[in-house]
Amino acid sequence: MLSVAGLGKRYPGAARPLFSELRFTVGAGEIVALVGESGVGKSTLLNCVAGLEPADAGTILIGPDAVDMARLDEAAAAALRASRIGFVFQAFHVLPTLDVAQNIAVPLLLNGIDAAEHPRHIEELLARVGLAGFGPRWPASLSGGELQRVAIARALVHRPSLILADEPTGNLDPRTADEVLSLLLERVRACHAGALIVTHSRHVAQACDRILALDPEGLR
Ligand SMILES: Nc1ncnc2c1ncn2[C@@H]1O[C@H](COP(=O)(O)OP(=O)(O)O)[C@@H](O)[C@H]1O
Ligand SMILES: [Mg+2]
Repeated sequence: MLSVAGLGKRYPGAARPLFSELRFTVGAGEIVALVGESGVGKSTLLNCVAGLEPADAGTILIGPDAVDMARLDEAAAAALRASRIGFVFQAFHVLPTLDVAQNIAVPLLLNGIDAAEHPRHIEELLARVGLAGFGPRWPASLSGGELQRVAIARALVHRPSLILADEPTGNLDPRTADEVLSLLLERVRACHAGALIVTHSRHVAQACDRILALDPEGLR
């Protein structure tokens, strides 16, 4: 679902590259943890994979047909991202002016899925993340754990090949973090998507299938 080779990135003006010649894969249904010290470049790596940040070198093959994100222009990258990738962010990024169902509908809208089909997809997903009946609720009335469940439903609703999660449980108390993580792993496995999860938590990393550690020398 993801095959990266020769990946390099240096921010303009930086004294040295953040990383170079990175190589790794994430298989279908495989959940990989990405760990490393703060500032080492984990979020940048995720953003390069998502085509949100341009890489300086390398190939980033995404999905069963191995489309190279690194070779696409901005519009094509946006389309590939919308159809193949689901995101879960630390700060949830649930839009406060849309209700829960409308938030989850965003990837369906981006993929041009008929609005008549939305309620079926959304209700099924809400039930699967333990939020049946939450569709008309406003995000402001939800707890942190509930908001992250909404974000997980939104990341999965369009059946992406690849889930990218940047410290998805970093804003939650330990018990809620465990519940949300279990749910994320269960849902990713059920969808046969691949997942790359940035985490500072040893516990989260150990719950994944494999751990990649990023340091200034590269990936281990
Ligand atoms: N848009 C940017 N422009 C310039 N430097 C950046 C940018 N984003 C991140 N950096 C720098 O790159 C380094 C890695 O950042 P980041 O990828 O956020 O690390 P991590 O997620 O591992 O904490 C940091 O030194 C950060 O200041
Ligand atoms: Mg980060």
